[in-house]
Amino acid sequence: MTLTAPVSLRRQVPLTIDGQPVTVFEGATILDACSQQGVEVPTLCFLETLTPVNVCRICVVEVTGSRVLVPACSRKVEPGMEVQTASERVRTSRRMVLELLGSSVDLSLAGDDVQRWISEYGARPERHGRQATGDEGDAGSVDGVVRGSTRDTAHAGHHAAPSGDAALTVAQPVKRDNPQYVRDYSRCILCYKCVEACGVDAQNTFAIAVAGRGFDARISTEFAIDLPDSACVYCGNCIGVCPTGALMFVSEHDMRARGEWDESRQSVTRTVCPYCGVGCNLELHVQDNRIVKVMSPLDHDVTRGNLCVKGRFGFEFAQARDGGAS
Ligand code: SF4
Ligand code: SF4
Ligand code: FES
Repeated sequence: MTLTAPVSLRRQVPLTIDGQPVTVFEGATILDACSQQGVEVPTLCFLETLTPVNVCRICVVEVTGSRVLVPACSRKVEPGMEVQTASERVRTSRRMVLELLGSSVDLSLAGDDVQRWISEYGARPERHGRQATGDEGDAGSVDGVVRGSTRDTAHAGHHAAPSGDAALTVAQPVKRDNPQYVRDYSRCILCYKCVEACGVDAQNTFAIAVAGRGFDARISTEFAIDLPDSACVYCGNCIGVCPTGALMFVSEHDMRARGEWDESRQSVTRTVCPYCGVGCNLELHVQDNRIVKVMSPLDHDVTRGNLCVKGRFGFEFAQARDGGAS
């Protein structure tokens, strides 16, 4: 059993951020220290309820004496550390991350912060080639088959040189194999959050993992089988943590497709799940007097953003009398 010292006994660690002195508790990360100081550090794969996996590298900062840039989301502070969050080296690295993602992934639903960072860091995804759609057969195809649509069947080592005409893309058809949620991996930035939520950080179901290597790496069920045949229990905790809209309620997906999704007309009501005695908190997103999706607050002691299938998708019964959720 690990004993944690009471806050009052924990050692204070002094450091500087962009030349300004700051003191934080021992065990804090550079990201914690920056937040305390009001310095924004962009993050994509970090979430406070998940174990840091350090895969997106957009949070990197410069630390005096360190040969390489370090990920602020997981690197613990040390006494006397000198951190630069906005040096040219840091900005170049973050710009490159945004450009590589923006050139190959559909980031249109990735949130206002991501769009703002693309602009603020001067990222120009178009530098990497014309935006490929995934339907045109020239985006790094293997044997004439479009790479973006063949990732699930890609074989290790089978790579063709990209034509250079269009940027490589992860574009592929939306996976719709169950009534609850869709998987649109053309929006996936491989942040691993869904894998963590499905695994040891929440659900311990391990229905999904990262398969493949390099550009062919993708989130997959075992042997890329459909969700109903996999270990998935439809808790939807992966949807709750996905930052890009790659995982989405069928209700939201279909409303977007019909041009009906309108967050300005939606209200969010926090309530308690009625299905059992655990007391999970729900956030009901309601549009036109209909529940369109159910999320869960990250800051709730019991729930920490997670639900089971009943809390996440059982809302359909509440409006079953007039035809279901969407
Ligand atoms: S719905 Fe739950 S069990 Fe299914 S893949 Fe997502 S996190 Fe895993
Ligand atoms: S599906 Fe979403 S949560 Fe999962 S790796 Fe892709 S972007 Fe991240
Ligand atoms: S947010 Fe730190 S590596 Fe992704």
